[in-house]
Amino acid sequence: MSAERIPDPCVLVIFGASGDLTRRKLLPAIWHLNDQGRLPEQFALVGVARSPMDDDGFRNYVAESIRGFVADSDAGAFDQFLGKLSYISGDPRDPETYALLNSHLKNIDQTRGTNRNRCFYCSVPPQVYLEIVEQLGKTGMHEEGSDDGWVRIIIEKPFGHDLGSAQDLNWSLHKVFAEHQIYRIDHYLGKETVQNILVFRLANSMFEPLWNRRYVDHVQITAAETVGIEHRAEYYEAAGALRDMIQNHLLQVMCVIAMEPPSAFDAEGVRIEKLKVLKSIRPFSIGEVDRYAVRAQYANGMIDGATATGYLQEEGVDRTSKTETYAAVVFTIDNWRWQGVPFAIRTGKRMAKRATAITLQFREPPHLIFQNSDVRCSTLTIRVQPEEGISLSFSGKTPGPDMDLGTVKMDFNYEDTFGVRSPEAYETLILDCFLGDATLYAHSDWIGKSWELLMPIQEAWSASSAANVPSYSAGSWGPSQSASLLAGEGRQWVEL
Ligand code: BG6
Repeated sequence: MSAERIPDPCVLVIFGASGDLTRRKLLPAIWHLNDQGRLPEQFALVGVARSPMDDDGFRNYVAESIRGFVADSDAGAFDQFLGKLSYISGDPRDPETYALLNSHLKNIDQTRGTNRNRCFYCSVPPQVYLEIVEQLGKTGMHEEGSDDGWVRIIIEKPFGHDLGSAQDLNWSLHKVFAEHQIYRIDHYLGKETVQNILVFRLANSMFEPLWNRRYVDHVQITAAETVGIEHRAEYYEAAGALRDMIQNHLLQVMCVIAMEPPSAFDAEGVRIEKLKVLKSIRPFSIGEVDRYAVRAQYANGMIDGATATGYLQEEGVDRTSKTETYAAVVFTIDNWRWQGVPFAIRTGKRMAKRATAITLQFREPPHLIFQNSDVRCSTLTIRVQPEEGISLSFSGKTPGPDMDLGTVKMDFNYEDTFGVRSPEAYETLILDCFLGDATLYAHSDWIGKSWELLMPIQEAWSASSAANVPSYSAGSWGPSQSASLLAGEGRQWVEL
């Protein structure tokens, strides 16, 4: 069993403290870390946002936001936690906000012994990141000092809008922060099941020998959601499924599946191997995009017995929008391990079911001795969510005098096995940042490369007219065009 890692005394500053992400994800994550004793004794959280509030107002806001999570905890511990919070009301674009923050942080260091260790969390729209970074630089709050104190910054996605803007963002960040201070968060990497992929592959000796082109026919990665764009039309219209899910979350997952084993589980080893995967993906030209990628928009339909409105009718969406709510791409990895093994990725909003999973389909047996039998290829499915787990489907003999084959399953389910709550991705990632462990964060080179790979798709899609965007009924598994993306290879999308 590994020793529990407790970070140094520190202050977490959240920009965008009254925003949706903070309320839904960050505050519950910090509370859970506190509740499990994973935060240092000397810890403080400073919220920064434009909403006018004082410290007590912020504490009430936080208490409301996490009430559902603290039911079983004692009131004393909860009050003690709230006592660690304070708030600065100010515009992140206004230098005055930073003057206030600077003196507030100095005061916290003195009164709480937080030793100048700071983590700045940018939970704000991307247009504001640079403003924050620049102001932190101007006030010297980015400096780590000569003792072993640290200053880190967590940047939320989207990290850029395309290759050029991601490079600009990196360049501007590097003008103020050194790379070792920058933590680009991708919450998929913090999911337990995604981390477990590496354990599954590399802490067992029986799977890794199969993990290659000799045994694997192809790999599918699906992230299907039943939700629509909720209240994020402004962001989503400019993003679309490719930018929102594939450029970051799903390419990261693909890299974890496809990477070579690093010699150590640390930031450098893992990041180098993941980058090597991206560098081995065969780039496609704009002219080839239609062969390897499909996009679509959801139209009216039914989900779980309720009517769902089509994308073009959603509030805030341009009626002539060509933003895709579904994207599927088939990648080819040009290396010895994966040559000829397609990696098919698909994601969509308003699909039939919420399911994120990775399926490795194994090759057919080289010679089949059971005549007239319908043999399905064996598959290994890693369920990222919901019902986190892993299942292996393979052929077995059905009982009876005849040699009939059927598909049987071996299943591992997290909840049944461990019977405990899995930590939320943000808990793991925030703790890692406090500990200075960037293994599960994205490196600037990786981000640059991922944008570079997707640029031809973005260019082709933005050049073609809205009339060319297929649609799919809300509540379905996506457009029919997506089936042909795989069918050309004699394969089909698995049912989840
Ligand atoms: C976010 C996307 O990064 O991930 C959302 O912006 C998406 O559009 C979400 O819904 C999915 O995350 P999860 O953890 O619910 O699979």
